[in-house]
Amino acid sequence: MSMFRAPKGTFDVLPPESGQWRTAHRVFEELAVQFGYGLALTPLFEDTDVFSRGVGGDTEVVEKQMYTFTDRGGRSVTLRPEATASVVRAAIQSGGVSTRLKASYWGPMFRYERPQKGRYRQFYQGGVEYLGSSSPEADVEVIEFGYRYLERMAVPDVEVRVNTIGDTADRERYSDVLRAYLHERYDHLSSDARKRVTTNPMRVLDSKVDADVVRDAPTPGQYLGKAAEDHFAAVRTGLESLAIPYTVDPKLVRGLDYYNRTVWEYVPLSYDAAQSSVGGGGRYDGLFELLGGKPTPAVGLAMGVDRILLASRPSGTSLELDAFVVVAEDTLRSEARQLVSDLRRSGIRVDMNDEPRSVKAQFKESDRRGAAHAVVVGDEWSHGDVTVKDLRTGEQRQIQVKEIETWLRA
Ligand code: HAM
Repeated sequence: MSMFRAPKGTFDVLPPESGQWRTAHRVFEELAVQFGYGLALTPLFEDTDVFSRGVGGDTEVVEKQMYTFTDRGGRSVTLRPEATASVVRAAIQSGGVSTRLKASYWGPMFRYERPQKGRYRQFYQGGVEYLGSSSPEADVEVIEFGYRYLERMAVPDVEVRVNTIGDTADRERYSDVLRAYLHERYDHLSSDARKRVTTNPMRVLDSKVDADVVRDAPTPGQYLGKAAEDHFAAVRTGLESLAIPYTVDPKLVRGLDYYNRTVWEYVPLSYDAAQSSVGGGGRYDGLFELLGGKPTPAVGLAMGVDRILLASRPSGTSLELDAFVVVAEDTLRSEARQLVSDLRRSGIRVDMNDEPRSVKAQFKESDRRGAAHAVVVGDEWSHGDVTVKDLRTGEQRQIQVKEIETWLRA
């Protein structure tokens, strides 16, 4: 029988490499809690319209990348390509947002893309959505969230690129100007771009193959109304007061249609892959209405975990266990088991082999499992002692069983 493999564009993560995924998730959760974001769990699939309406029918994501199928009940459903539309759908379904709702999520997203390093068909995002606030301070907070996450994940040299695409009326004005500009260069545009000149010209700014044609194109920032302009100025001041370095990228428009005003991306400058942004977000004050809800301002971001792990500086092997218990005398197996159980109940990460093995083999296993210490249960047990070895320094000493916990925590 031929061997099964993970589908194209997907991958497995197994121990011990999965340790860094766990860290990425834990750090994200800690930060979300510190910033006051609760947890949102939404289905991995939705009615297709949630995305085609929410994300926008003219976007690459909706036109070319959705995993859409008809279920056994004849409904068109789609594996979520992103979670913002789902979170907004859920907020509307639960009765809307009366004051503020701050929600975070973590999990797989699905886009039918051409797979390459840093671009997959199933990839992982950690995201936050700040619903119900129109204040530029909310934008600043969300931008800061992503920046701090990258800091804690040790991603070096991150550039925060920000821009504003204005409000609906500004965008309409700007789109007319851009449409005229693109019409003059129609013959040089790609076939995708030609389709969008009429329906959604701003998408062309985003197109890599048309980069040369749009190099000197007018930008949204030149057509802002007063409200959007003031909002953007306040966002920039907020970032400066928190000392978050940023650059204004006047052509940054992002690939999803629901945005207005502030948009941004995080780009690690030393990251060599073609897929450069490790996260991005923006304000989306119109999305609630698009999905049938009451007008509700909102801003959010999603961080691309796969790319963050590719770009982060490896911080040495991660320690997966505080201790590995080595049974030197097989007659002491049940005492060793009891010790493991007691330590686990005290919150220590500890394991042992469940079959008799030589001491040497057990030490090898403690290294392989990423343990910080080996705790040897042997002859000294009869005096109430164990031998503890620090596996990083090689330092070894005999201590009393009742001291183990303190020692391991030190
Ligand atoms: P996005 O820019 O489409 O935004 O995705 C956010 C991040 O997900 C990207 O910066 C990238 O790191 C990662 N990503 C996207 N596609 C792939 C892929 N095929 N393979 C690997 N990583 C990928 C959103 O999804 C919005 N929902 C963000 C948002 C939240 N805006 C407001 N709230």
